[in-house]
Amino acid sequence: MARQSLGLTTLGEYLERHSETGPLGFSVATAVDAIATACIEISGLARGGAPVTSADIILGTNADGDVQKDLDISADWLIRRALASASIAAFASEEAAKPEFYDPASLLCVAVDPLDGSANLDLNMSVGTIFSITPAPRDVSQAFRRPGTEQIAAGFALYGPQTSFVLTLGDGVDIFTLDPADAIFRLTRARVRIPADVSEFAINASNRRYWDPPVRAFIDECLAGVEGPADQDFNMRWIGSLVAEIYRILLHGGVFLYPADNRDGYGNGRLRLVYEAHPMAFIVEQAGGAASTGYARVLDLAPDTVHQRVPLILGSSEQVRRIEQFHGPEIGACTNAPLFAHRGFFRV
Ligand code: F6P
Ligand code: MN
Repeated sequence: MARQSLGLTTLGEYLERHSETGPLGFSVATAVDAIATACIEISGLARGGAPVTSADIILGTNADGDVQKDLDISADWLIRRALASASIAAFASEEAAKPEFYDPASLLCVAVDPLDGSANLDLNMSVGTIFSITPAPRDVSQAFRRPGTEQIAAGFALYGPQTSFVLTLGDGVDIFTLDPADAIFRLTRARVRIPADVSEFAINASNRRYWDPPVRAFIDECLAGVEGPADQDFNMRWIGSLVAEIYRILLHGGVFLYPADNRDGYGNGRLRLVYEAHPMAFIVEQAGGAASTGYARVLDLAPDTVHQRVPLILGSSEQVRRIEQFHGPEIGACTNAPLFAHRGFFRV
């Protein structure tokens, strides 16, 4: 069968339609197309298009203290190069200490995690690229200080056995798959919906002794299964790569948690609001799921700094609501510790 006869919409055709919605739509389509092009190049590097050994060379640490590998830097550079053709007023990257400001007359701000999960590179496990797009504010210095509800597009590429490109333009979530034969993304899953109640959770359980009581109570309930109050057995997954976890949740449901914990530097969890939590929360909500800190909707939060961390709980709406109940005043047994008055995100 000829490839053309598969009849699947290409990402180019999809974005072409969006570009006809007006100047902002045109700018978003151009920026997403540029990012997708960079993702195809990063995908090639991740699967060994570059000398295989270079993928795992450690260059140092980034502004946030994460190990920075050769491929982190290459991915960052490829995205910057691709975005040169787009209308970008401000750009933020996990790999850059500060946001960068370009032409203030441009229409968009773009934030990226160029290579999420890169600690897994030497293990031949899935990694990816996350992006978030917001309209440029009148005062561009406020570009990465606004709530996640300002996003007009977000997505991520997943470099696994296949290369997938997950995209929301604010009207549902669509998934494209890279055809390696012609380097074109084609729409393979339209209007993805996260099932509301799936008994599966993902958390780094080695941190249990550092968790706050509400998180411990929820996970204990999951582990108790049919013998506990949940009255159902739960399955567990932990890949250690946010992009892979969220892809699984988009397709199968379940809940992912990277909560605040008592370790030094983890008072707001591990994941960054601007280029990890905001875009993932937007995608998950657009697919019918929910995203919360336990106390607040993630999309309602505005960061103080570009690398601000945030506790992140997201996935099937029923599970997220259940975890929020554990954090709420009605579950007194879990929230009576004075700890809760002053620890955690945006609490005084
Ligand atoms: O970007 C941070 C990240 O690599 C995520 O992809 C992943 O979910 C998390 O860190 C894993 O953290 P830990 O090593 O603490 O389990
Ligand atoms: Mn990351």
